[in-house]
Amino acid sequence: MSFVTVSNLRKDYGPRTIIENINVEVEEGQFISLVGASGCGKSTFLRLLLDQERPTSGTITVDGELFSGEPCQTRGIVFQRYSVFPHMTVRANIVAATAFTQGTWGWLFGNAKKQAQAEAQSTLDRIGLGHVAAQYPASLSGGMQQRLAIAQALAAKPRILLLDEPFGALDPGTKLSMHGFLEQLRVETGMTVFMVTHDLEEAFKLADRVLVFDKPKWDPDDLEKGGATITYDFDARNDGIPFQTLQENTNVFKSD
Ligand SMILES: Nc1ncnc2c1ncn2[C@@H]1O[C@H](COP(=O)(O)OP(=O)(O)OP(=O)(O)O)[C@@H](O)[C@H]1O
Ligand SMILES: [Mg+2]
Repeated sequence: MSFVTVSNLRKDYGPRTIIENINVEVEEGQFISLVGASGCGKSTFLRLLLDQERPTSGTITVDGELFSGEPCQTRGIVFQRYSVFPHMTVRANIVAATAFTQGTWGWLFGNAKKQAQAEAQSTLDRIGLGHVAAQYPASLSGGMQQRLAIAQALAAKPRILLLDEPFGALDPGTKLSMHGFLEQLRVETGMTVFMVTHDLEEAFKLADRVLVFDKPKWDPDDLEKGGATITYDFDARNDGIPFQTLQENTNVFKSD
């Protein structure tokens, strides 16, 4: 049963088509890696999944519901660069994220504030940041800051986590420990995850499916022409054998 359904999705910026003919069905709890050349529209696709931007045409439904264009708590996002608030302590960062999701724009009072602080502390304990709750993000290592960013995205208890090159700026050791952290989170929460990465090993290691974004046709006279689509849908749990070879979408390296 499809949880996230993307049908005939297309996004243009001005005269340029960035992505087109995107059709994909994702079950709840699946981990999807998105790979593809720089500039092919992976982040654009995530922004559409986040409902931060509207498609030029086509639809996305989550649990059968069409996107409304209104802010929604089903999805949380983490970017490559740490998106935490530098002027707030680690704990306050989580409390603020909780407050935002409750529509109170960063302000919680009385019991609600106490409860949010207690919940923030237990979230931090769970992700191994309890001991630095009173510190500021600048005093944390890269891996710790990125764990904080993930914890912030999780404050709203989203059913879908969107990760845009979340570990791209981390050293190899920290990256490995973040992989473990993410795998554990998945088991605990049953979240559906979409992760953009340029690291193919990481893509196949963490995901159930690896979707490749590419242009089906390249025009040698105009490399900007035409949008990217999903050219391969690999089963990462079965030696990377494609679920489907999307014949009509594979590269021909020439214009028609
Ligand atoms: N708001 C915008 N207005 C106009 N063009 C945009 C906008 N956002 C992105 N683009 C263009 O859309 C194309 C796809 O960008 P996008 O950031 O989605 O690529 P990407 O696959 O995430 O690349 P990278 O791997 O480098 O992060 C790029 O050519 C970019 O310049
Ligand atoms: Mg990007």
